[in-house]
Amino acid sequence: MTACELEESIRPLEAYLSLADRYPLLMRLVTSISEMQTLGRHLRRQDRIITLVPTMGALHEGHLSLMRRAQAEGDALIVSIFVNPAQFGPSEDYTCYPRNFERDLELLQPLALEAVFAPAEAEMYPAGFGTRVEPPPLAAQLEGAARPRHFRGVGTVVLKLLNIVSPHLAYFGQKDFQQAVVIRLMTDDFNLDTRIVVCPTVREKDGLALSSRNAYLVAEDRCAATTLYRSLRCAQGLYQSGEARASVLLRAMRAVLEGELRAKPDYVALVKASTMESVECVAPGTLVLVAARIGSARLIDNLILGPAGASDEKLLELAWGESALEHEVA
Ligand code: PAJ
Repeated sequence: MTACELEESIRPLEAYLSLADRYPLLMRLVTSISEMQTLGRHLRRQDRIITLVPTMGALHEGHLSLMRRAQAEGDALIVSIFVNPAQFGPSEDYTCYPRNFERDLELLQPLALEAVFAPAEAEMYPAGFGTRVEPPPLAAQLEGAARPRHFRGVGTVVLKLLNIVSPHLAYFGQKDFQQAVVIRLMTDDFNLDTRIVVCPTVREKDGLALSSRNAYLVAEDRCAATTLYRSLRCAQGLYQSGEARASVLLRAMRAVLEGELRAKPDYVALVKASTMESVECVAPGTLVLVAARIGSARLIDNLILGPAGASDEKLLELAWGESALEHEVA
């Protein structure tokens, strides 16, 4: 799909409101904040465990995996769909970001949700809106360095969503690991009554992490896009064969990326997952990250280093270390 075709596919939310009648299993399509807050309070009074999966739509199996987990762990699942302008930079893809609300509702059909919360931009950011979340310093590096106001926008919208929906649990993907760390820190720092759950990355068969932005990839770029995962696997292979020097792993990753002419690497990094600080020696739970531009798409991916055969859940536990235990206790 070209950028223009994507832009043409943007239709105002109002155009879709009549769809609610066509989707009887969808209990509610909520567009107003006050209605969503009333529903949240009602569900809490009924002692239901409210789970929230925030998304920007263009749903794929990665989003759906978060929703299935949320559904299994609670009893009132709310999915939000809102393409948040505040987290896109001026030269980024906000206007072109894939939007397909009708298809999203179809994908949500089998899930028997409590509600889809899909506010319009003016509902979330009315005239005069001026307060924003200042994210912690670790938000300035990696994705934050490439996208300077991104985490401010993410923190602001997620704080609003948590206040509007008041979920007991909110689900985020490991795919956007730095985002998950920023949100966990924000919920701790602001003493929010929501536990943040981080779920494993869902991939295509060839390893490419599912992403709404994969829609930007033309056929040749789609093949080239696997280079991100290949570079991560290269680091993982070296680690599992006993190499602990970060410099060696990073050099090998760069070589993999440089071998793909269609890839323009942005960063490769090895960090302690809970703080996102660079490490010189890798250990179980170290996070390896990559970002690269492939054609018109900027893609990110990561893996957690650990013993061969460890489950995704075990690796996430290793990555969060003690902080995971603290969250469990909370
Ligand atoms: P979006 O990109 O739509 O992603 C919504 C959630 O799905 C995020 O938590 C993301 O990490 C997760 N996700 C994306 N791809 C995934 C994959 N392949 N496997 C598993 N989970 C995946 O992230 C955002 O929206 C926004 O920043 C948001 C948090 C909604 C705030 O606007």
